[in-house]
Amino acid sequence: MARLAVFNQKGGVGKTTTTLNLAALLAKRGADPLVIDLDPQAHLTGISGAVVAAPERSLYGFYCNGASLAGLIKLARSGWKIIPSHLDLSRVDTQFGKGPNILNQLRAGIIKENLNTDRPILMDACPMLGVLSLNSIFAADRVLVPISADYLAIRGASQMERTLRALEHVLKTRVERRYVITRFDSRRKMSWQIEQQLREQYGAEVCETRIAENVSLAESPASKCDVFEHAPGSRGARDYAALLDELETSGFLR
Ligand SMILES: Nc1ncnc2c1ncn2[C@@H]1O[C@H](COP(=O)(O)OP(=O)(O)OP(=O)(O)O)[C@@H](O)[C@H]1O
Ligand SMILES: [Mg+2]
Repeated sequence: MARLAVFNQKGGVGKTTTTLNLAALLAKRGADPLVIDLDPQAHLTGISGAVVAAPERSLYGFYCNGASLAGLIKLARSGWKIIPSHLDLSRVDTQFGKGPNILNQLRAGIIKENLNTDRPILMDACPMLGVLSLNSIFAADRVLVPISADYLAIRGASQMERTLRALEHVLKTRVERRYVITRFDSRRKMSWQIEQQLREQYGAEVCETRIAENVSLAESPASKCDVFEHAPGSRGARDYAALLDELETSGFLR
């Protein structure tokens, strides 16, 4: 099934919020998704409620101690599965060079352990182009790029497009991607301008669904839950449900 990296080098654009809510809804629909938290900030791990007793019990153990990925899987409070992160994971970026073996390590692990034959994998990347985020892109067969509707968005999007093109050169294949506009505020002219520019630049690769600026999306992580548990009737819940429907019906997420 699909291996989806949620990535944008720009920070705070909604990568973690998007991974969390797509995974939560997939789980509610019975898909048994596995989330891999590749961000040493470990925000998603924190929201999941998974307890990580030591760095070796997180994804760090896979890179630095040869632990199996399957042995690191934890159950999030609301039922989806996660390979958690830990602050020590930041050492991976400095400890290893950027050789092909390390960049392919996650992909090789997922395939060797048959981790996604019957479940989708969603990877939450960190806002930096280093060993960890490259691992998520190399392991993925598609990339979802959240773009927040703020004034630096267009610059961030062009930077992402350049990055993906450079990687395609190495991977020798086109990286299938979709851009999703997040934090859209219909009262702000700028949100509409950004949407128009993105659609002109990236055409059908921009999702029809926009994720609106929504207080329930901002508040739910504080209660360690996804928006479907926190505020099922909210705009945020409706938007992420529409996004998942769009990704599934278009065949992007299978
Ligand atoms: N649609 C939204 N409406 C309101 N707040 C949002 C929305 N999406 C994300 N947020 C909030 O914006 C902040 C950044 O979101 P998030 O952590 O998902 O971004 P990120 O891209 O994962 O950040 P980082 O690059 O640090 O990993 C969080 O406080 C989150 O709750
Ligand atoms: Mg994040």
